[in-house]
Amino acid sequence: MNELMPQEITRGASPESFDIARLLKAREAERYDLHSRYLNDRMVQALRTIGFDVAFQRGSGQYLFDRAGSRYLDLLSGWGVFAVGRNHPTIRLALQRVLEADLPNLVQMDVTALSGVLAERLLEFVPYLDKAFFANSGTEAVEAAIKFARGFTGRQNIVYCSHAFHGLSYGALSLNGDPTFRDGFGDFLPGCFEVPFNDLAALEQVLSRREVAAFIIEPIQGKGVNVADEGYIRGARELCSRYGTLFVADEIQTGLGRTGRFLAIEHWDVEPDMVLLAKALSGGHVPIGAVLMRKKIFEAIFNRMDRMAVHGSTFAKNDLAMAAGLATLEVIKAERLVENAARKGQRLFDFFSAFAERYELVKTVRGKGLMIGLEFGPPRSFKLKTAWSVLESVRTGLFCQLIVIPLFKDHKVVTQVAANASHTIKLLPALTITDADCTWIERAFDSVVAEAHRVPGAVWSLGKTLAENVLRSNR
Ligand SMILES: Cc1ncc(COP(=O)(O)O)c(C=O)c1O
Repeated sequence: MNELMPQEITRGASPESFDIARLLKAREAERYDLHSRYLNDRMVQALRTIGFDVAFQRGSGQYLFDRAGSRYLDLLSGWGVFAVGRNHPTIRLALQRVLEADLPNLVQMDVTALSGVLAERLLEFVPYLDKAFFANSGTEAVEAAIKFARGFTGRQNIVYCSHAFHGLSYGALSLNGDPTFRDGFGDFLPGCFEVPFNDLAALEQVLSRREVAAFIIEPIQGKGVNVADEGYIRGARELCSRYGTLFVADEIQTGLGRTGRFLAIEHWDVEPDMVLLAKALSGGHVPIGAVLMRKKIFEAIFNRMDRMAVHGSTFAKNDLAMAAGLATLEVIKAERLVENAARKGQRLFDFFSAFAERYELVKTVRGKGLMIGLEFGPPRSFKLKTAWSVLESVRTGLFCQLIVIPLFKDHKVVTQVAANASHTIKLLPALTITDADCTWIERAFDSVVAEAHRVPGAVWSLGKTLAENVLRSNR
């Protein structure tokens, strides 16, 4: 007998002895109870309160299907992960082929072709950058950028914008512009300074001391869908160059076609020193983060052979993540998803712009491509104003749930509120949405927002119930 051959000997149990499909079926009905018991009960409470506990069973493209088989249009896309939609066949096949290839994966003291090719393909989109560094998530990409900027410049300070969101590990959280994420977690990284978004004078004041390693910015902020003013991004780039600060574009949410350009920064025709990607690059299947940067930065960090692993992470560059990234880029190109995001985004933006004129509860619409924020605000007419004030006195931002809940329940459209205590509802669908989907969105919003203007009415009855829930849970 050839001792090296029989796989059962080296691999133990036969693949059939563990049946994940059977496990899924057997335990499916317990999903909320399991989560309450062993994971985040608050999450389950929230889902139950807003009626999102429909136990989604299946995802395909931009759609989700619940237990009853009803189809939902998902405008959340897993917080921007599913740019190419769920379970895209090209991504799945790429992953299956990697598994079938019996690749050695993560040898660590070797390098792989897949990571090399993914780096090459990503850098083709940013010809002014030369090197890639891979991580496992968005926040890890941010951590890497902080370290690289400090290491390269020899400066300690990092500047970020008000309302910024760059992730929730300590470095990234030190650059977070929303106190609700930071409260209760103690001290943060020293040398991190917030400047007001869209304020060049404030930025110059802090950069001019020539002590800032990097200025990090989301060209369109995920929390609130705040778009950089005309001139701000370019002005910030110029200030960074003038004062020796690296300009870091966090494109973790906005990148890979989301805003109708491959990178959102292209809308302003600016070349960052580092570009951060994650989310959509995963194809929705395998976590990944990437930092694209100038060669001189990379080489200042990995500057000697004994420092070749001075920063990194065990699972970064794993074969499945690299294959998912490559397949995602292929789908984006083959299906012309950047162009689709621009076209469908424009259609929706135009539709919602007219909204602001038609409905007194709608204040404005913001965004680019398929990253859109619809902001509500205090109405003028007496009855509505009173209803709004009562609700908002219970919890700021509660009004948005009066839109999110009926969109979900009555129209099967999945949306989210753009930030804590925000009055903005965010649309972040897969870039694959069709004109029929846009019509679905338009009809759903039109119906719910029109209903919200009726006092008394179904929407405000829901508001009363929600307010009572909040007051009860505060007791
Ligand atoms: C702009 C931006 N940066 C960083 C992150 C953090 O990414 P991750 O959740 O993968 O750590 C996010 C996540 O929402 C993000 O939107």
